Amino acid sequence: MTISPAPRVAVIVVAAGSGTRLGQDAPKAFVGLGAHTILRHCLRGVFAAPEAQVVIVAPAGREGEALTDAREAAGSRAALVSVVTGGDTRQASVSAGLAALWPSVEVVLVHDAARALTPPAVFERVIAAVDRTGWGVIPGLPVVDTIKRVEGQQVVAAVDRSQLAAAQTPQGFRRDVLEASYAVAAEEFTDDAALVAAAGHQVALVEGDALSFKITTPDDLARARSLAVPVAPVSAAAPDRGLMPRVGVGTDVHAFGGEGALWLAGLEWPGEAALSGHSDGDAVAHAIVDALLSAAGLGDIGTHFGTSRPEFAGAHADAFLARTRALLGEAGFDIVNVAVQVQSNRPKFAPRRAEAEGVLSAALGGAPVSVAATTTDGLGFTGAGEGVQAFAVALIRPI
Ligand code: CTP
Ligand code: MG
Repeated sequence: MTISPAPRVAVIVVAAGSGTRLGQDAPKAFVGLGAHTILRHCLRGVFAAPEAQVVIVAPAGREGEALTDAREAAGSRAALVSVVTGGDTRQASVSAGLAALWPSVEVVLVHDAARALTPPAVFERVIAAVDRTGWGVIPGLPVVDTIKRVEGQQVVAAVDRSQLAAAQTPQGFRRDVLEASYAVAAEEFTDDAALVAAAGHQVALVEGDALSFKITTPDDLARARSLAVPVAPVSAAAPDRGLMPRVGVGTDVHAFGGEGALWLAGLEWPGEAALSGHSDGDAVAHAIVDALLSAAGLGDIGTHFGTSRPEFAGAHADAFLARTRALLGEAGFDIVNVAVQVQSNRPKFAPRRAEAEGVLSAALGGAPVSVAATTTDGLGFTGAGEGVQAFAVALIRPI
């Protein structure tokens, strides 16, 4: 018999936004802060707070990644986690989260994944204040700037900032109040507190935290990256693991027998036998891609460039390497350098080594690439002239 958990508190983590203003390729919650996603960092705070059901609202198609992050962050609390698909607006996403609450839940916190660095103490303060007052509760900070009311370019009034607070999340509510307020909401509100207040309920303020800022623009992302401490260091001997460089390894083999010209190490080799493969068969480029993805923990070439991606059929090294560099950038990594060795009888590399290094390095945004080549003394498939093999090592560092 399994005993279902019966938590009194739930946290709905809304992570389904696209992050338009951040302007990265990935939805905002899946952009990297060092080695881990914004969502994963956010969940560290959630799971360090008092025990609660945790409902993650993910963008359509990203539910699996959200669950992986959640299981890793949850540790022994994995049974408390579920993932649901979000909607077109934040409000629709919160509604989707509400529909997944368990019967035991009496207090609901709604939290933006984009406030990735929110400390656990804020969750505790909000829960305590909901329990004490029965009101909706928001964490907020005093406004430090002098605020003006403007019309176009004209300042029309001063605003008394002592009457203002900047609202953050997690915002906490009695479940019955939040559900009833959502049921009657007839328009889009900017946060849950506004929606609950519009339904006639009281809302109180508790102290927020400067670390709870919302990652909205590229500047916010840079700030979060500089402040984020690594997630779950594995041992006390390496407490700053998330800030350390990371190494990766990759290897690839292609057989001769392709159509047209040979492409290897980003160069075309007229008069040489071609390699076969889904793309141009450039084993050197593919080994580098695998080494870079391995260093970043982003899977391998099949994860990102599999045969299901027709745009990479026949593509050359520059396309693969530029896309790989972009994937690493999204995950928060810079390439330090790459070393690759190719085993093959032909072509003769020495005369074009510098050219190959230049092309590969340019495709990686200027990171140095060194290319070495060797024969295998007639041994093995490379010695028999059946194909080529390449080995690559890459070093990357968190931005
Ligand atoms: N959110 C959501 N579903 C939506 C829109 C937003 O779950 N349809 C979540 C976001 O993932 C984020 C939080 O609500 O954690 C706050 O929204 P915001 O910072 O505006 O994020 P985005 O909508 O993703 O960003 P942008 O407005 O720049 O597109
Ligand atoms: Mg938005």
